[in-house]
Amino acid sequence: MDTELIGEPFIPQRTLLGPGPSNVNPRVLQAMLSPLLGYLDPDFLKLMDDVSAMLRQVFQTRNALTFAVSGTGSAGMESGFCNLLEPGDVVVIAVNGFFGERMSDIARRQGADVYRVDSPWGQPIDTDAVRQEMKKHPAVKMLAAVHAETSTGVLQPLDELSQIAKEYDSLLLLDAVTSLAGSPLNIDEIGVDFCFSATQKCLGAPPGLSPVTASEKAVAAMLNRTNPSRSWYLDLSLLFDYWANNRRYHHTAPMSMVYGLREALRMILEEGLENRLNRHTRNADALWAGLESIGLEFVVSREYRLNQLTSVYIPEGVVDTDVRRALLYDYGIEIGGGLGEFAGKVWRFGLMGESSKDINVLALLSALEAVLPTHGYEVGRGVAVQAASTSFANNRSN
Ligand SMILES: Cc1ncc(COP(=O)(O)O)c(C=O)c1O
Repeated sequence: MDTELIGEPFIPQRTLLGPGPSNVNPRVLQAMLSPLLGYLDPDFLKLMDDVSAMLRQVFQTRNALTFAVSGTGSAGMESGFCNLLEPGDVVVIAVNGFFGERMSDIARRQGADVYRVDSPWGQPIDTDAVRQEMKKHPAVKMLAAVHAETSTGVLQPLDELSQIAKEYDSLLLLDAVTSLAGSPLNIDEIGVDFCFSATQKCLGAPPGLSPVTASEKAVAAMLNRTNPSRSWYLDLSLLFDYWANNRRYHHTAPMSMVYGLREALRMILEEGLENRLNRHTRNADALWAGLESIGLEFVVSREYRLNQLTSVYIPEGVVDTDVRRALLYDYGIEIGGGLGEFAGKVWRFGLMGESSKDINVLALLSALEAVLPTHGYEVGRGVAVQAASTSFANNRSN
């Protein structure tokens, strides 16, 4: 019987400058081609230990329970709620974007009593409103928030939230999917009890693993549950047993992903966390100078703007998808559209991890200078690239 091959064999090269995934360094891809090992092979177990040790450095924590859950960022998110909450537990969730909404949905599915504190999209969380809400409930088990809201580009300051969680003796859960290794985040210093991230943003690996870390207080809450977590696959005590304790089989580890994450973490530590954050700042500054010079309006004020994700309003009369399609097919550049209430209204430019490069800033701005005028928005040729180049020059001489 004749077999017909389906689909093009060729996968195009793209510059990924959207909300994630971001580009991956060839070293990481190369590591992923390494031979498979068994999930209990001592060499693989050693590799898992390396990953946990390096994740502790990147999360800046001494938490024993620190490893990578199999699955994307949403798996880490779900693992936090399904291990720390039981039916009837009270949780206050600060929502100022799409991913805060997702956390509320997940918490509700655990049977928890969810109290949302909503703040407008594009603005940080109103911590006075959070405090008011916490006051209303005598036994709040958890306060949850998103550190870097990828749907809007807001970086949430954490000091006040941490203070409130302490005042009410509740667990603090933090979504660091977009912030880890792109924005300053010191888990132990801030006092975060449970934090999750994802490999495909500032960590610089493909999607597929979700690094998590849990404080002793969070581990105690997991151990003191009345009933086991409703999710077997995401039961963190079973997973921890495999990652660190008895090394008992739980599920077949996606070893190629673990190889990739290990290499990505090695690269982060080689570069140095602080240098990496500075790189994200320098490239963001140049991008902002370029966008500003051509009159695009930012969604988030500078004080709260993420370095790794910048949202701008789509100018009047310009068709969102036409511009994104032109960037993708004519320039090989992916940017993001809006999510939820921002759908069709904003563009999101990501400079995350490996994608946060000066040449990417210049390529994106020159592509915008070429594309926007043909789609109804006049831009002086060379203006944005010039502004970005000046910003780079100034930052280098500092
Ligand atoms: C802030 C935030 N939280 C959670 C997620 C969900 O992660 P994933 O899509 O990897 O499941 C994302 C994904 O973009 C995110 O940006």
